[in-house]
Amino acid sequence: MIKHILRLQPLGKELRVNDQTPLIDVLHEFGIEFPCGGKGTCGKCKVRLLQGEIKITEVHRQKIEQLGLSSDWRLACYSQCTGDITLEIEQFNHLILADESEYEFIPQKGFGVAVDLGTTTLVAQLIELSSAKVLAVETLLNPQLKFGADLISRIQGCMDGHAAEMTRSIRSSIGIMTELLLQKHPVEIKKVVIVGNTVMQLIFSNCDVSPLSMYPFHTDNLGMKTFNSKELEWNFQVKGKIQFYPSVGSFVGSDILAGIAATGIHQKENYTALIDLGTNGEIVIGNKHRIVCASTAAGPAFEGANISMGMRAVTGAISSLNLIDGKMEASVIGNSIAKGLCGSALIDAVSILRKQDLIGMFGEINSGEQLIQLSEKVSLSQRDINEFQLAKAAIAAGLTILAKNLSISIADLESIYIAGGFGSYINIGNVVATGMIELPEKKIHKMGNTALIGAKLFLFSETELTEDILSKTRHINLEGDSNFQDIYVDKMLFL
Ligand code: FES
Repeated sequence: MIKHILRLQPLGKELRVNDQTPLIDVLHEFGIEFPCGGKGTCGKCKVRLLQGEIKITEVHRQKIEQLGLSSDWRLACYSQCTGDITLEIEQFNHLILADESEYEFIPQKGFGVAVDLGTTTLVAQLIELSSAKVLAVETLLNPQLKFGADLISRIQGCMDGHAAEMTRSIRSSIGIMTELLLQKHPVEIKKVVIVGNTVMQLIFSNCDVSPLSMYPFHTDNLGMKTFNSKELEWNFQVKGKIQFYPSVGSFVGSDILAGIAATGIHQKENYTALIDLGTNGEIVIGNKHRIVCASTAAGPAFEGANISMGMRAVTGAISSLNLIDGKMEASVIGNSIAKGLCGSALIDAVSILRKQDLIGMFGEINSGEQLIQLSEKVSLSQRDINEFQLAKAAIAAGLTILAKNLSISIADLESIYIAGGFGSYINIGNVVATGMIELPEKKIHKMGNTALIGAKLFLFSETELTEDILSKTRHINLEGDSNFQDIYVDKMLFL
């Protein structure tokens, strides 16, 4: 029997399916809904073909045209798997974090676009600068996902000769999103602010990423990059500048610069921290006088990578677990069948299992089994628990070393903000219970997409806000601390 590989994004799943398998049969299992029952009239089952081919019938083509979809979309209810394909599932995308938080601003004339260019997801908002009102939002998956989920694979992709393609595709995606915003509200754009990690900045700006692939993993090419629509090959005009904001360090980008602006760390009297649990976990600690920041290897586990049933915070993911009458109860995003667990549920699971004494202080499953069942179909393996320990130790050690650099202790922090894709689902009590953050719960606050909030703040300022933050901020290499290994190993324990 011929088998094909079916990759589902942004779920990050890879399946082997038989030739001619109807997509509806596979996707149904992942909680995808087919509201019109597969008649081809609602368009809700649409999937974007990122790689490979889906044979299309004349009826299917007509349905796509009637629904006003472009040629790279297919209706899952009309499609079969006849080769290796990678699909972007539209229904999974609705959960991309597009922030609507309020913030202080000085009213101005005109309109701006704020873009959070993430390793996995892209979010763009059209802002009315007189009111700070979000007029429209567009979200998309990063087209570079086909080169791998993490930053290392993107750097490798560039070094394997795909740099020009990656630059072209990301510029085009941001252009398409901006154009879609303008189709909803035809206005003149005064400024476009883009923030993202250092690798994303270098690729977007057509700069060499290879210095980040080898020791000492350092690039000096971190500054503000300014463009016009013509050089980005956007077929619409932006009156003012299109700017990719400066990175803070070789692996701490303008998304963190924006995070500092959003949390106001640079203006606070007392020491405050920000932890961004995105694809890579960055940490910042500082006040209005000095700020230190670092990147850790914590992110991928919280985004589902390296966890056997891990997935991002999308439909079908268990977002939280609670112990009710001695039984583990799961909440699933989209009220569908649980297919896996996202970062917040991973934290809940470990915390609850430790409280029940089902896992020990070294992370070992006390029964000696290799798996613990969390729900009917979702389990946690011994390896998953060890991956979690590595991730939580990376955050805890990062906080300790950054605090040490400021000659303070973690207890001196007034508050810690947690940002990241699953931030809204996180149970702070469980974060504390696992030892990831050694502070009382009341000092820890969830904050949404701080990168996007900061990008919006940058729309209202010239360069003074950025310069103020950069002048106070120092990038620290955590592994450069002579005690890093000892602290890291110590933080893996569940005390
Ligand atoms: S389920 Fe409605 S178009 Fe496919």
